[in-house]
Amino acid sequence: MVVVANRLPVRRVEHNGEMHWDLSPGGLVSALTPVLTGGAGMWIGWPGGGVEMAVPAEHEGIELRAVPLDDAEFEQFYLGFSNATLWPLYHDAVRTPTFHREWWYAYMSVNDRYARAVAGAAAPGANVWVHDYQLQLVPKMLRALRPDLRIGFFLHIPFPPQELFMQLPWRRSILEGLLGADLVGFQVQGAAANFSRVARRVVGASGTDSVLNYDGRQVRVGAFPISVDTIGLIKRASDPAVQRRARQIREELGSPDVVMLGVDRLDYTKGIDRRLIAIGELFADGLLTGPQAVLVQIGIPSREDDPHYRREREHLEQLVGEINGAYSTVGRPAIHYLYQSVEVDELVALYLAADIMLVTPLRDGMNLVAKEYVACRVDNTGALVLSEFAGASQELRDAILVNPHDLDGLKQAIRHAVDLDPNEGTARMRRMRRVVRRHDVQAWAHAFLGALRADSRHISTSPDPGLDPGSTPN
Ligand code: F6P
Repeated sequence: MVVVANRLPVRRVEHNGEMHWDLSPGGLVSALTPVLTGGAGMWIGWPGGGVEMAVPAEHEGIELRAVPLDDAEFEQFYLGFSNATLWPLYHDAVRTPTFHREWWYAYMSVNDRYARAVAGAAAPGANVWVHDYQLQLVPKMLRALRPDLRIGFFLHIPFPPQELFMQLPWRRSILEGLLGADLVGFQVQGAAANFSRVARRVVGASGTDSVLNYDGRQVRVGAFPISVDTIGLIKRASDPAVQRRARQIREELGSPDVVMLGVDRLDYTKGIDRRLIAIGELFADGLLTGPQAVLVQIGIPSREDDPHYRREREHLEQLVGEINGAYSTVGRPAIHYLYQSVEVDELVALYLAADIMLVTPLRDGMNLVAKEYVACRVDNTGALVLSEFAGASQELRDAILVNPHDLDGLKQAIRHAVDLDPNEGTARMRRMRRVVRRHDVQAWAHAFLGALRADSRHISTSPDPGLDPGSTPN
């Protein structure tokens, strides 16, 4: 089993003045660690630096192979094609995507390096699981080098509708790249349908949204909604020390009646400004009053070398300043804004401290913050305001669903969350918790790998929730 992802599952951390490697936090790593440990698995990815970065050959039983990027590749492959072309294009073009041929050449060459690294390392007949938009050419490149491998690909972000995808000058190559896999997985059925549609139109694949015939092979396509490490989060949320910290956070905030929380990578797709504007207007209308109501907004630094991200940060910080200037009192800000990463226990304490969680992306493949909040609400209290443009909204139907472009609707949704009858709130949270308990990240990995290992005849009749059992191959 080989996992191929843009980043390795380890990060450099400082401990007692010394640098060492640690497993990165997060669901993907915790889901795949059991599959990869014990000498049976390998992870190939970028260590976050160039060749000078010495990565251990193994960490906690997982074999590691680094694919370093030099400065030009970081600029053109990572910041450029991955995050300034594909990222905005795949997120409804909420920022105008930039198309540069040099970036495309770098994308091809880095994908080729990944494919060669896998080809040189994978055992005969191994299962290879390629992740995400940075590596869409790898399946085809790898198949050409190693036809014996079974190749799965999972896209963590949305796959855009035809009208947007068709803008991409290299749309044909991207589709051919993905169709090199045996199984292509998406977060939601709509993304799988978008992909199958353009594959039929652009490269002449035939078949249904579940099974495409291309280049004399069958490629299976399906939705595999990713989830969180629910049991791990429940354990942390039940820890008395974490619960004490949650009570302390509320006290530090001045023991308000209502604590609202936003936690996002600081990204222009997350709709953080919509939420701030809505909160500001609620204060202005007198429908929320400080210091009884506060918002804690965590913006986790991300892709800071990209001008779109820098501008977004400035925009948000100006909004926070304006709202705080108008509605705070001395020692009691209306918005507590942190631009920093947060350790997992502190994050769980924040989830426990928050009466209302605000998740308002303009477009999001899934949004795991929404699922994490639900998993952590062990006493079944709390309300989730969730954008209908997040993949998570398809499963968390008991959230208060909003269109983040509709500011009046968003204000009403936040007010609705504040006024929610406690019995109704508990019933909703119970139902949402059932969803994340039944379908956690381990179930997600199991469903995808099960589908990858199975043959297509088995899949088309399988009750596996990841694939649409109603569709049959052509
Ligand atoms: O959601 C897509 C994704 O690439 C995640 O895999 C990752 O955790 C996040 O965005 C941050 O991306 P980056 O690797 O660019 O910091």
